[in-house]
Amino acid sequence: MKEQRRAKKAQIDAKYATERPQKPYKDTVRENAVFENYYKQQGIVGTDEWEDFLACVREPLPAAFRVTGSKSQAEQLLHLIQNNFFSQLNTTTSKGEEDTKELATEETSTTSVSLSQTLQNTDLADVKEVGVSEASESNGSVTAASDAIPDTDGAAAANGSTAAAGDTKSSELKPPTCLKWYPDGLAWQLEYSRVSIRQNNTLKKLHSFLVSESESGNISRQEAVSMIPPLLMDIKSHHKILDMCAALGSKTAQIIEYLHADSADPMPEGFVIGNDVDNKRCYLMVHQIKRLQSPNFMIVNHDATRLPSLTYTNEKTGSTEPLLFDRVLCDVPCSGDGTLRKNPEVWRTWGPGHAINLHSVQNRVLSRGLELLAVGGRLVYSTCSFNPIENEAVIANMIKKCEGAIHLVDCSQQLPDLKRASGMKSWKVQTKNGDWFSSFEEVPENKRSWVRPSMFPTDDMESLNIHRCMRIVPHHQNTGGFFIAVLEKTSHLPWQSPKVEVSESSTESAQADQPGSTTVDKAKEPPTKKVKYAGFREDPFFYFEADNSQWPSIKEFYKFEDSFDHTQLMVRSKEGEKKRNIYVSSKSIKNVAKNNESKIKYINTGVKVLARSEHEMCKCSYRLVQDGISSVDQFVHGRRMNIEKADVIELLTQENPFFSRLTPNTQSNMLKMDMGGLVMRYLHNDSNTGTESPILMTGWRGKTSCRVYVPKFERHHILRLCGVDPDKALIDAEWAIKGKTGPEITAADVEDPPKDGVEEITAADS
Ligand SMILES: C[S@@+](CC[C@H](N)C(=O)[O-])C[C@H]1O[C@@H](n2cnc3c(N)ncnc32)[C@H](O)[C@@H]1O
Repeated sequence: MKEQRRAKKAQIDAKYATERPQKPYKDTVRENAVFENYYKQQGIVGTDEWEDFLACVREPLPAAFRVTGSKSQAEQLLHLIQNNFFSQLNTTTSKGEEDTKELATEETSTTSVSLSQTLQNTDLADVKEVGVSEASESNGSVTAASDAIPDTDGAAAANGSTAAAGDTKSSELKPPTCLKWYPDGLAWQLEYSRVSIRQNNTLKKLHSFLVSESESGNISRQEAVSMIPPLLMDIKSHHKILDMCAALGSKTAQIIEYLHADSADPMPEGFVIGNDVDNKRCYLMVHQIKRLQSPNFMIVNHDATRLPSLTYTNEKTGSTEPLLFDRVLCDVPCSGDGTLRKNPEVWRTWGPGHAINLHSVQNRVLSRGLELLAVGGRLVYSTCSFNPIENEAVIANMIKKCEGAIHLVDCSQQLPDLKRASGMKSWKVQTKNGDWFSSFEEVPENKRSWVRPSMFPTDDMESLNIHRCMRIVPHHQNTGGFFIAVLEKTSHLPWQSPKVEVSESSTESAQADQPGSTTVDKAKEPPTKKVKYAGFREDPFFYFEADNSQWPSIKEFYKFEDSFDHTQLMVRSKEGEKKRNIYVSSKSIKNVAKNNESKIKYINTGVKVLARSEHEMCKCSYRLVQDGISSVDQFVHGRRMNIEKADVIELLTQENPFFSRLTPNTQSNMLKMDMGGLVMRYLHNDSNTGTESPILMTGWRGKTSCRVYVPKFERHHILRLCGVDPDKALIDAEWAIKGKTGPEITAADVEDPPKDGVEEITAADS
């Protein structure tokens, strides 16, 4: 509860922090002469492309989403989206016009703001901090417009490029676009205005469907270009992964999905640490990550430039070693001008000084990331800025500093359908006063503390392979702007000394396949000055000891197999015997947590697996929790039941159905079982896609009735997979209860299975 309150407070604070300074969209003029002159001078696109570029960045950004989840369920969900929504979008337009004539008349004087804005503004996609000084940047204040849900109704985009309400009626709606470069056709882009959504029932339903499915973690609404860096990280299930500037977590979520993707094991060997300097944003990220119900993540709250050196116990040798990562993402704070289609406020605030302010912190985050990267590991550096001072300059400077220990990876064969431009080899530096410099030698003495040599290109750009950096420019494929560089570390850095063996999983690339070893040189570690923790600091996690007094009864009741290591279970406070909730984390996360208790500022880890649920007739004081069931399912051999589709629908639409409402098999199995928590399994066979996927639901077997503990949005998701419209089914069910249509329902019969309401708010549960 404490965490939920904190997450809620962080959400509210962030909303107001972002709303206060914001101007309504109608005030935002999508023009800025300084911006235009700056990038024309820099030649970020060829002169023949300039007008296309400018026209495109003035358009609102299409909204995008990815279908996530297990492979079979993702396929089923995609089929459902295409069948229920996409197939109707081009044909229902005219019907939608008729349906909504009245509404349209009221609104013909308004100009719409695109769905891209409404969806982007409600999503947790890239949020770049715009126009802040380096000092305030590292304070990590929440300033980006995209956190807020602005009241855009009736507001006009200033350049009038968005469709008017009248247009929506008379023109065909644009069909959704599949992002060809994203694997398996699972990512899509949509361009509908808010008015179109109001006027078209299919769009209205699609909108609430996307919101609902993203709450249950089965789709992620995320800007298209923001999906690229995790794809280029080449993540495997055994990787140790660090996301250095992770909030609000859209890329971290994607990384976690990939960590689980190629493994049948619900607790794979690898793990993901998501870090951010901003305490509030860390709590917001919790919500984003919790949807995925992964036991393999940890959220921490540090300044990435000074991330502490951590240790890890090598499972094979039992020795404690420095924790080095196989994959690092540096999605650094940046000026964010690549997001100006999404955040039109950037047009008003943009200035050439922002990049100069951010260059140093970007260098320092990258440098620390490379120190923490294992030899053979891969680091992806990204920004949503067009500016070479934040991009190529940072990469070139670091490659030179590392004296051959890192190199740019050639990604030209990866994501072949993604259009990209090469890294720039020349550029100039402009100060906020408008002075241009081509080289550091031209910079007057009084500006040299601010304009640094590392901001300029040098003669050796070719030999650094700087062209391997990737620039995504909006007009190439109707996206935002982005910069990505993929680096590989082939030996220890010049300022690190080779002392400790690198773990096997870290030595993947051919270059690193050598008896290399490395550790962070103490002399070059970030200053050990005592860090003052601002904002909330969570209590540490208390893992079960081998002789935990509660475990035997839990183990016996649910018949947990011996191979389940109960010391991976943990609680959130030490005092008292019986805890309200018990969480599980993977072995690897426990390894990190146990080794670094005093060094890490934890925000969140683990997935809830058991909740206290005492009943005089039940032998175990805990019931299984939906969040963590897929993590432990394979170990639980008691209290399980296979059920049928009709049971799933009954259990998800009725509060406490009597056994008599279930199928005969399920009824008889219920009668054979004692009271208490249980897990029900239904093997969903989808005839449309020819795929099978197991659906697990935790519940409670009462005296004469039973119930499931499945959070609202997950209920909706499962019902949809079963071919049931959740809105309709739940309304019908409510009426059935109100009208007491079932002859067997009497007040005296309704029993009271333990109900703590926890799952109902799990989506926000941090
Ligand atoms: C571009 S956003 C990250 C977006 C995120 N990767 C995502 O995909 O949702 C940059 C983040 O860097 C954080 N930040 C700024 N300075 C930082 C620092 N010194 N250390 C760690 N994080 C920092 C900001 O709080 C912000 O959340």
